[in-house]
Amino acid sequence: MEEHETRNAPCAGLRIGDEAPDFSARSTTGNIQLSDYRGKWLILFSHPADFTPVCTTEFVALAREAGEFEKRNCELMALSVDSLFSHFAWLRMIRDRFDLEVRFPIIEDPTLVIGTAYGMVAPKDNDSATVRTTFFIDPDGIIRAMTCYPANVGRSTPEMLRMLDALMAVDKEAALAPANWHPGDPMLRQPTANLDDVFAAEGETDWFLAETSTEGGK
Ligand code: BEZ
Repeated sequence: MEEHETRNAPCAGLRIGDEAPDFSARSTTGNIQLSDYRGKWLILFSHPADFTPVCTTEFVALAREAGEFEKRNCELMALSVDSLFSHFAWLRMIRDRFDLEVRFPIIEDPTLVIGTAYGMVAPKDNDSATVRTTFFIDPDGIIRAMTCYPANVGRSTPEMLRMLDALMAVDKEAALAPANWHPGDPMLRQPTANLDDVFAAEGETDWFLAETSTEGGK
């Protein structure tokens, strides 16, 4: 694979810890500047196309949980190559069919300028649709996590909320979130980097695998 292809492969364009590239774009809620979202968590996600079955279920699921994201001071922002008018028609259909208004912005990216910068497009695909990438961006504009799903598998809204909760909890507690962690579960201590602490630890694994004394994320 050529170097530019590696950089632009889905989810490979950017890394955790990178600053999210700024952009301005037209969206269903007006013109958007990414940097205006500083001070809030932001989930920026791409979908392959409007009027497709899995994408429709994702938007319905996210719109139903919009209040949960709001409680966490987190904005949602969707993106695809479809035109603004396609987005409008799709949202109208969703409202009429599901009695649900999708009020978070959907960006139009017909030239793929944003999708390419974020590695949302598969370079060898024979169409220009974006895949299901999701970027979790913190209030300082830093990418803290990202996921990449294929077109034929929808994302999990509970897992998106759990990821958000875990990212906030590790910041607040300076601790680690173990497998399957949920708010209120114990968190893990950062392991020591000091050999004296390793030898002084009571149990065999206590120096690297121990819970914090507080319950995380509540
Ligand atoms: C879907 O959302 O159902 C979908 C989108 C693109 C390709 C295949 C399925």
